[in-house]
Amino acid sequence: IKSTSLAIVIFGVTGDLTRRKLLPALYELMKAEKLPEKLHLIGFARRDWSDEFLREKLQAGIEEHSRSKPIDPQILERLLARTHYVQSTFEDFQGYQKLSELIKGNRIQNVLLYLATPPEEYLVIVELLGKSGLNKRENGWTRIVIEKPYGRDIESATILEQAVHRVFSEKQVYRIDHYLGKETVQNILVFRFANAIFEPLWDRRYVDHVQITVSETVGVGTRAGYYDNAGVIRDMFQNHLLQLVTLTAMEAPVGFNADAVRDEKVKVLKALRPLRGKDAIQNTYRAQYVSGTVDGKRVPGYKDEAGVPPDSVTETLLAARLYIDNWRWAGVPFYVRSGKRLPTRLTEIVIRFRQAPLSLFDWHNLAGDAPNTLVLSLQPDEGIRLEFGAKAPGPINQIAPVNMEFNYQETFGTEPPEAYERLLLDCIQGDATLFTRSDEVLSQWAFTSNILEAWQQFPVRNLPVYEAGTWGPPGIDDFIQQDGRQWRNPSGD
Ligand code: BG6
Repeated sequence: IKSTSLAIVIFGVTGDLTRRKLLPALYELMKAEKLPEKLHLIGFARRDWSDEFLREKLQAGIEEHSRSKPIDPQILERLLARTHYVQSTFEDFQGYQKLSELIKGNRIQNVLLYLATPPEEYLVIVELLGKSGLNKRENGWTRIVIEKPYGRDIESATILEQAVHRVFSEKQVYRIDHYLGKETVQNILVFRFANAIFEPLWDRRYVDHVQITVSETVGVGTRAGYYDNAGVIRDMFQNHLLQLVTLTAMEAPVGFNADAVRDEKVKVLKALRPLRGKDAIQNTYRAQYVSGTVDGKRVPGYKDEAGVPPDSVTETLLAARLYIDNWRWAGVPFYVRSGKRLPTRLTEIVIRFRQAPLSLFDWHNLAGDAPNTLVLSLQPDEGIRLEFGAKAPGPINQIAPVNMEFNYQETFGTEPPEAYERLLLDCIQGDATLFTRSDEVLSQWAFTSNILEAWQQFPVRNLPVYEAGTWGPPGIDDFIQQDGRQWRNPSGD
């Protein structure tokens, strides 16, 4: 890899993603000497920028957002030594010809095309890449990275798939779900399949239910235009939440490679019991935030955010009850939820084990069931915790809840790297394990589209509301309590 030449072409280079994620990740990779010496960064976008101006912007992004500080000027120089800007609209064929000449003129071997544009542009970009011959190389490889959202329902995702496959082979396509780049998300598989301890318990005989929570404190910020058409279901559920479900539920792959892992993930998606019509209404719960206090600050309600229509019924909180109809999971509910403006930023997977068949002891300071619970904390306090009951000291046999805990940072003395570092490197190395395969993204959409259709079929005029900074309206608790279960909300709630 080091001795080859590589161009990373970023479509939509003037946008947020490039500044906040891509360039800081490339800086870390350069620092770790993982990138070819002859690296060309090529930006392709509409704005009237020059090579020099692009370089300044990229540098500013790195300085602001990199996780290693201070920035080393020599590494920065190596990274930005060959920076080119192609100014063009995405519809203009001449722009692609200019790009092609730039690549030829610099005798660049391998090309990584990165679509970081608004998704409406994907179809035309892919088509023109094909038309200009930028989809293949004679003496090197061409790969394309496509950001989410990959379609907005099964129909549009299928159209995009067809367009992509007219121009690229599946081996060239890297569909990003940045959750898969997170170290602790990958650890789900290592934890499950490198250890023999838990796997025998990981099924319907021992697991009562699974909860997956992705809660955020942020609101929609400046992204209302996108978000109001997406909601949690398209923004988080179709991709990140379903990824976490598949990694938690999948069978052991026959090997740790792209096809074997993704084969097993797709099987889970195919086994999801479809939620259609009334079933979708009964097994989902939606709400929207109104103003409240998050992290001690007053924040506006969703409908008061700039760009949100006053009659919006877009959900900012979603819970769903999923069933995986296969031998391992039949009858075990997976409760998933995600929302904006919740009390805390947290992603966790909770495996709640069944109770002992007979209770012999009383609980000390504890009502209800024993906490036979395994918690995989994916962020921000990365780690794993097993919660169970132990004998409280004293002459009476009373049980107290206790924990066995692994904390990523304490154990490894370092914070996990950023998702994009891993994903960009994998793509450069040609490893697609952590990217979403064609049949996978279509299965995700097939499942999600049923829910979307049901919501359209039974429209709501107003969604239940929750104050920003709370875990949602009472309805979200009823949603799980009607099954005799409780959300596991972190401390204090
Ligand atoms: C993105 C969503 O995919 O993921 C955002 O579009 C969300 O709305 C973000 O905030 C969450 O990612 P992370 O890595 O902060 O958990």
